[in-house]
Amino acid sequence: MLLRGTISAPLSCLRLRSTTTSTPPLNVPVSRRTSTTTNNYSISDQDLDSRGFLLHRTIAELNLDHLNKVFVAVGFPKRDPDKIRTALEHTDALLWMEYRKTKRPVAFARATGDGVFNAIIWDVVVDPSFQGLGLGKAVMERLVEELVAKGICNIALYSEPRVLGFYRPLGFVADPDGIRGMVYSRKPKRKT
Ligand SMILES: CC(C)(COP(=O)(O)OP(=O)(O)OC[C@H]1O[C@@H](n2cnc3c(N)ncnc32)[C@H](O)[C@@H]1OP(=O)(O)O)[C@@H](O)C(=O)NCCC(=O)NCCS
Repeated sequence: MLLRGTISAPLSCLRLRSTTTSTPPLNVPVSRRTSTTTNNYSISDQDLDSRGFLLHRTIAELNLDHLNKVFVAVGFPKRDPDKIRTALEHTDALLWMEYRKTKRPVAFARATGDGVFNAIIWDVVVDPSFQGLGLGKAVMERLVEELVAKGICNIALYSEPRVLGFYRPLGFVADPDGIRGMVYSRKPKRKT
């Protein structure tokens, strides 16, 4: 899926939904809770913090084994931690959320790219115990905003069919102007 536009034409900058000002009860998902900041995020950094979620934009404090566990918990294949580290070191922008109580990552997304024209978003995950709270949306809003702020307007991602409905409200469209993504992909060799 591509963020609002075609691969050939630069995209207009993303406008995210504005927030309300009333205060819902604590059992309401964080995405529906209030924001008191001027950002157009569905949930502000402050609201996330007050719910015990800390935002990080580097891997300095990220335990890769814990991240791997989240990947596995959502059904991604378990990966070699050294390869994860290399991938993250070659990542242009990433965002993860730590749950203060457990000090573990519970939401993650990252983007690779050329730094000026194009970016691809990868590994968008939320720990199953924390899904449905608005964390996936919160991470995606911030990652996309960071890329757009760099002037990158072509932002693509691969979406499993069951997740298309998650990405569409964030501004992503499938097959823009009929353009189809094509992938050359090989299964990794099994270790003997
Ligand atoms: C997809 C995923 C990242 C969503 O994260 P999440 O924190 O559960 O989602 P949120 O609570 O932020 O949901 C935000 C909005 O998207 C909607 N949504 C979430 N998952 C959805 C799905 N699979 N299909 C359609 N809508 C979805 C929510 O209802 C919510 O709508 P609202 O803003 O109108 O209330 C998470 O479910 C996940 O990690 N799934 C497994 C890994 C995966 O499939 N990653 C994507 C790889 S392509």
